[in-house]
Amino acid sequence: MAAKRKPLIAGNWKMNGLKKDVRALAGGLAKRMAMTKRPAFEMLICPPAPLLGFCVDAVKGSGVKIGAQDCHAAEHGAHTGDISAPLLKNMGCGYVIVGHSERRTDHSETDKEVKAKAEAALAAGLKVILCIGETLKERKAGQTLNVNRRQLRGSLPTGATAANTVIAYEPVWAIGTGQVATPAQTQQVHAAIRKLIKSKLGANEGDKMRILYGGSMKPGNATELMILPDVDGGLIGGASLSVADFWAIAEAA
Ligand code: 13P
Repeated sequence: MAAKRKPLIAGNWKMNGLKKDVRALAGGLAKRMAMTKRPAFEMLICPPAPLLGFCVDAVKGSGVKIGAQDCHAAEHGAHTGDISAPLLKNMGCGYVIVGHSERRTDHSETDKEVKAKAEAALAAGLKVILCIGETLKERKAGQTLNVNRRQLRGSLPTGATAANTVIAYEPVWAIGTGQVATPAQTQQVHAAIRKLIKSKLGANEGDKMRILYGGSMKPGNATELMILPDVDGGLIGGASLSVADFWAIAEAA
């Protein structure tokens, strides 16, 4: 990782956690963060939407940031069950994840929809974590770079800058499987992502934009991934549900 990019350690709780877990998990991380002088990383927690407000309160003053896992593309309106980006901002969120493969699969989200959500998030003043990644079938077919480039081209929001957008490379076959991408596989895709960002946004933005790895990241494999030249942190699922594991991954950064 280049020294000029501050690593982002982001926890995606997915559909896990109850109100009773907020104090131990978000509060526990906030406590550790508050005791860390000049942390070398930025820490973010993305809990399920109903817990956002509680988490915002639990981390207050610690430097830990709170983000959401999705948002709607519209500013407001008749969309039962959905959540707008302005509301997330209003609740105290700093970030929102868009385009996670679980949403692309469970809710058939397309690149076009993901792009619209990302643009709504930017308009609301949120930072975006844009997820892309290939399936095992696509990897086996030799389509890894093509798929990631296609998703990135199709879903990168207009107005993206290194300051407001983070890319997360999450190979679908590595998510929740315990099967982590090798350092060589990871670096290959991250370098291709950076190259494409540079061609779209210019060399400077491309150099500064953070690219996270996600997929079975654990304390035991975080270091070998985090030292790669184009890996600038992690988007962590399972291991973000343990204060000790999540903190150990942050320390690897
Ligand atoms: P796991 O760390 O559980 O594999 O999940 C990764 C992920 O999907 C984060 O968004």
